[in-house]
Amino acid sequence: KKLKVAVVGATGAVGETMLSILAERKFPSSEVVALASARSAGTEVKYGIDDIDVLDLATFDPTGVDIALFSAGGAISKEYAPKFVAAGAVVIDNSSAFRYDGDVPLVVSEVNPEAARNRPRGIIANPNCSTMQMVVALKPLYDAAGISRINVATYQSTSGAGKSGMEELGRQTAELLNFQTPEPKKFQAQIAFNLIPQIDDFLDNGYTKEEMKLVWETRKILGDDTIQVNPTAVRVPVFYGHSEAVNVETRKKLSAEDVRALLENAPGVEVVDERKPGGYPTPVTHASGNDPVYVGRIREDESHPSAINMWIVSDNIRKGAALNAVQIAELVASEG
Ligand code: A2P
Repeated sequence: KKLKVAVVGATGAVGETMLSILAERKFPSSEVVALASARSAGTEVKYGIDDIDVLDLATFDPTGVDIALFSAGGAISKEYAPKFVAAGAVVIDNSSAFRYDGDVPLVVSEVNPEAARNRPRGIIANPNCSTMQMVVALKPLYDAAGISRINVATYQSTSGAGKSGMEELGRQTAELLNFQTPEPKKFQAQIAFNLIPQIDDFLDNGYTKEEMKLVWETRKILGDDTIQVNPTAVRVPVFYGHSEAVNVETRKKLSAEDVRALLENAPGVEVVDERKPGGYPTPVTHASGNDPVYVGRIREDESHPSAINMWIVSDNIRKGAALNAVQIAELVASEG
């Protein structure tokens, strides 16, 4: 059966990529509807080689929609996802609105695809971008040796904050090269030629919400509340692609060779680990515009009896958001 698909937030950084990935992967759709705010209604967005009209979410009738991909922020998801479900759609939600609800599965297509089937509320949550790429690379290690603790520092691109985040990096860069003083608007400090150790709001424990997402979501996706995660999340002046320096303490010792072999056979992973200049992934040279989770700099932690260091890079808009949402839609479509 061909399905009617709605993309909510179709004019955003993630929404536009959802549309291009649906077309690229030839998702079995009878119709694709692009929805955004009244501001964008009447404009067009690309769906493959076609231009399709953007409709106003507020006045759209969801009757007949089979699958709705939401990426317009948590408030929009909270308000409209239940309406789409009531009209018969399965909602795949890229916001954090439902991720921590016990009756909403949090799914990474290579890691826990089976969880997508059990969705009592008709909603499947798409994980946070930094957790997404990390668990794709960690799942094979977890299965082979168990994981007791993860130390992670992230280097997250501006597209993670949406189109206005990328615009701010571009604008501030131009201003600085013209000897002007940039004004921070979207980010908490100057982002051009700088970096900012804050993503999302501060919580009572002194961590940011983005950092705690790495703790909560890693446990939920791997289904193991004993995993300890020690995160620091940093925004960097990159357009596309998040990077992560990850130290993984495994329950059984794995050599760097073991890890390389595990990752070379892992779905969604590409190992780039040549131990020479340029023999590792970066956001620009590898991740940007591509699907895989790239892993390099694989080496044993010489200060610990059973820990591995690695460098994980992926396009946060693709695997980190739009691609995984479409892969979940493919899982739902394959249920028939
Ligand atoms: P719009 O372009 O009409 O504002 P990004 O994450 O790149 O900033 O994109 C956010 C997406 O969410 C855009 O498609 C945006 O549409 C959409 N959006 C924001 N607010 C609303 C709203 N009130 N109703 C529907 N869509 C919204």
